[in-house]
Amino acid sequence: MSTQPLSESVLKTPILVTGGAGYIGSNTCHALAQAGFRPVIVDDLSKGHARFAAPFELHVLDITDEPKLSELMLHLQPAAVIHFAAFTEVSGSMRAPVDYYRVNVQGTVSLLRAMLAAKVKKLVFSSSAATYGTPIHVPIREDHPTVPINPYGRTKLMMEQMMADCRAAYDLDWIALRYFNAAGANPALDCGEWHEPETHLIPNILRAARGDIPALELYGTTHPTPDGTAVRDYIHVSDLADAHVRALRLVLEGGVGESLNLGVGQGFSVRQVIDAASRVLGRPVPLVEKPERPGDPPSLVADATRAMQRLGWSPKYTTIDSIIDSAWQWYQRQGFAPSQD
Ligand SMILES: NC(=O)c1ccc[n+]([C@@H]2O[C@H](COP(=O)([O-])OP(=O)(O)OC[C@H]3O[C@@H](n4cnc5c(N)ncnc54)[C@H](O)[C@@H]3O)[C@@H](O)[C@H]2O)c1
Repeated sequence: MSTQPLSESVLKTPILVTGGAGYIGSNTCHALAQAGFRPVIVDDLSKGHARFAAPFELHVLDITDEPKLSELMLHLQPAAVIHFAAFTEVSGSMRAPVDYYRVNVQGTVSLLRAMLAAKVKKLVFSSSAATYGTPIHVPIREDHPTVPINPYGRTKLMMEQMMADCRAAYDLDWIALRYFNAAGANPALDCGEWHEPETHLIPNILRAARGDIPALELYGTTHPTPDGTAVRDYIHVSDLADAHVRALRLVLEGGVGESLNLGVGQGFSVRQVIDAASRVLGRPVPLVEKPERPGDPPSLVADATRAMQRLGWSPKYTTIDSIIDSAWQWYQRQGFAPSQD
């Protein structure tokens, strides 16, 4: 990555952040502000939280509303867009695929049309390990076949394909960051992982450990993994946020169109994460075992070498204990009142 300082005019120009009131988007807005950028959020607050976006300019807007999005884009003339807004649950996408295609695919079509109308041709985008499907081997490199096994993963792959086509046709500069499992929190910030319903493992472990839910529901104990539970690569949200700032700098320099994995490169089974949490929290995690959720691959572990080379990035949180500890510190400050926006 180039270390050329960015000009004052680029730093003052807004960076439009869709989904910036959500978990990863809000953490990234803080990292952008810290790096001297001016994030401006577009979020319909369907899943995000106004208080996460509070320090920044927020436009409450559905990205599928192309006329309004286009009007805002023309008005703001951002230097680039970072696109987080999406429906994000694998299991939700199995139950309601049309909603996922509408928000993720149609929403990205609206966004691209609004960007092109305003001549904004720089995009960093949240993709996912779900684009790979059930891997043939782990760790997974970017050149691994992409055969998603659920509608969510298919929407993310389609979004990447749209961007590649837009590079060929309109010279769009883009980077898709394929995150593995985002986790953890920056305890100094108000924003953290808070989804309703929550389907992610670590926040549900914390809820069960604190007694906010009766027990953790552990889905799938017969996967072809050493202990039968699904193996995932957990990457800290602050490390993701840092990677976005670096990817933004690269797209601003221009000449890019590529997908990069973001993960630590270590896999932990659900049982290993529960054991680590019991150790870090110093208390047991009540759990009930449930059948496997459809659309869940047994093991997803990243080879993030390419992101390290291209972005000059490396994760700072490299142990599962430190990731869980940061999430716990943040969670302990939260009351259990999802409507507390
Ligand atoms: N959390 C993970 O482990 C993970 C892993 C891989 C990829 N991702 C991707 O990262 C991105 C952010 O994930 P997150 O965990 O922060 O999710 P999140 O639900 O916390 O954030 C998504 C945000 O998008 C907003 N949004 C949804 N639909 C919208 C619409 N139509 N118009 C405007 N805003 C809308 C929501 O209100 C929310 O604030 C998503 O694109 C997700 O697919 C997440």
